[in-house]
Amino acid sequence: MGTTLITGGTVISAIGRRLADVLIDGESIAAILAPGHAEDYGITADRVIDATDKYVVPGGVDAHVHMSLPFGGTVSADDFDTGSRAAAWGGVTTIVDFASQTFGLDVYDTLGARHEEAAGECHVDYAFHQIIGDVNEDSLKAMTYLVDNEGVTSFKMFMAYPGVFYSDDGQILRAMQNASESGALMMMHAENGIAIDVLVGQALARGETDPKYHAFTRPEETESEATHRAIKLARVAGNVPLYIVHMSASEALEEVSRAQHMGLNVFAETCPQYLYLSIEDHLAQPGFEGSKWVCSTPIRSKHEHHHKDLWKGLRMNELAVVSTDHCPFCFKDQKELGLGDFSKIPNGMGGVEHRMELIYQGVVMGEMTLERWVETCCTTPARMFGLEKKGVLEPGADGDVLVWDPNGKTKIGVDDKHHMNFDHSSYEGFEVQGKVDTVVSRGRVVVENDTYVGVKGHGKFVKRSLSNYLH
Ligand code: URP
Ligand code: ZN
Ligand code: ZN
Repeated sequence: MGTTLITGGTVISAIGRRLADVLIDGESIAAILAPGHAEDYGITADRVIDATDKYVVPGGVDAHVHMSLPFGGTVSADDFDTGSRAAAWGGVTTIVDFASQTFGLDVYDTLGARHEEAAGECHVDYAFHQIIGDVNEDSLKAMTYLVDNEGVTSFKMFMAYPGVFYSDDGQILRAMQNASESGALMMMHAENGIAIDVLVGQALARGETDPKYHAFTRPEETESEATHRAIKLARVAGNVPLYIVHMSASEALEEVSRAQHMGLNVFAETCPQYLYLSIEDHLAQPGFEGSKWVCSTPIRSKHEHHHKDLWKGLRMNELAVVSTDHCPFCFKDQKELGLGDFSKIPNGMGGVEHRMELIYQGVVMGEMTLERWVETCCTTPARMFGLEKKGVLEPGADGDVLVWDPNGKTKIGVDDKHHMNFDHSSYEGFEVQGKVDTVVSRGRVVVENDTYVGVKGHGKFVKRSLSNYLH
C-alpha cells in the first residue's frame, strides 16, 4: 500500500480545524504535519492527494445499519457487498450492523451466521452489535462472553414489534442487569409496541390502510413513553449505559435530556430522515408512494417542532450521534407487500450513502459547526462503540479519511448519485452543497474522481472495546 500524503487541506476534528498534511503509512495514519513541510522531514510519499480548498476529515462511522435484514417476509435490499460499497461512496469507512437473535435461536449461532454472511464481502470495515430477542440463561451468559471475547460490546433490544423482536420489561431488565456487570452498552428501540398494535388493529378496522397510517398509529407518546420506561429500567439496573436508537420526536428527546441532567448514562442518536422528511411531504404522498418512507420510529409532521428540536439536540449533545438505520426495501415487490394494509409494509429506508452529505447541510444551514459534523458522524460513534482506531485523524489511528469538497454540489436521486441497491431514493431530488471528493479506507483509496476504485473483501471485521464514554 505504501505511503500516501494528503496535502494542502484543512483538517477538521471534533475539537478544531487547521491547515495540515496527513501522512498515511500502510494502513495507519503516521503523522499530521505542518502544511508543506513533508520534504523537510525527508518524506517522499508514494502517492500524493491534493486537498487544496478541501476539508480532510476522518472517514465516517455509521453505527446503525441493516444489510440483508429479514423483516416482514422479505430481506432488506442491500447486502454486505452493495451496502458497504455504497457506504464508501458516501465517505463512510466503518459500518456497524447487527447479528440478530430472535425467539428460540442461539446467540452464538446468530453471530456466527452473520460473520459468515459478511466475511469477504465488505468494501469498508465493519463491526456488529448483537440483537437479543430471547432472554434466558443461555443468552445472558452469551452476552457476557461476547463482550469478553468477541468484540461485540453492545446489545440492541426492542420494546416494539411484538412477536418478532419484542422483549417485555422483565426481560429487558434482566438483560440490562447483565450488561451492567459486563460493562456493555444497551441500545433500545423505544416504542410501545403493545399499544401500537392496538392502534394498528383499530385503524385497519376503520379501513385506514394507506401508508400514512403507519405514523398515525405510532404517535410520539408511544415513543416518549417507551423512552421514559427504558431510562427508568436502566436506572434500576445500576445505571447501565443506555443508547436510544433512531430518535424521531421532541417529547422523546425531552426524556433523554432530563435523564442526562439527572446524571444518568443515557445517550441517543437520530438519523437524517428525522431531520428532513415529513408525513406531509413524504409518507402521505398519494396512492401507495408513501410506503417508501415507512420506517420505525416513523417520520413525523413538519407542522410540529421535531426537526427544529432534533437539530437543537444535536447541537447541545443531547443527541450524540447521527446514524442512518440504513434498511432499504425496493418499492416493487418489497414495499408492495403492504398494498392494502400499511402494517405489512416492511419497515425501513436507505441512506448509508448520504449521511455525510445530509448532515453537512446542518453546517451550511447554521445548525451546527464543522467540528460538530465530524463529532456526530465520525468521532463520537467510534468512541461510543469502542472503535478505538476509528473516527479520528491522529498517529496510530486507521488510515480512514474523507476528503470533502465544500465547493462541490451533490444531486441525490436514482438517476443522479445513488449507489445503493434499491429502486428509489429516500432523498430523491435533494440538491446539496458539498461533495465527497476522495475516500481512503485503511490506507487504500476507494473513491476518487467520481469513480469507485475499491475492492470487495478489503473491509475487515473490527473487534470493539467497551464504550470509551464510561471506561
Ligand atoms: O424501520 C426500521 N427502523 N427498520 C429497521 C429495523 C429497526 O427497527 O431498526
Ligand atoms: Zn429499531
Ligand atoms: Zn435499525
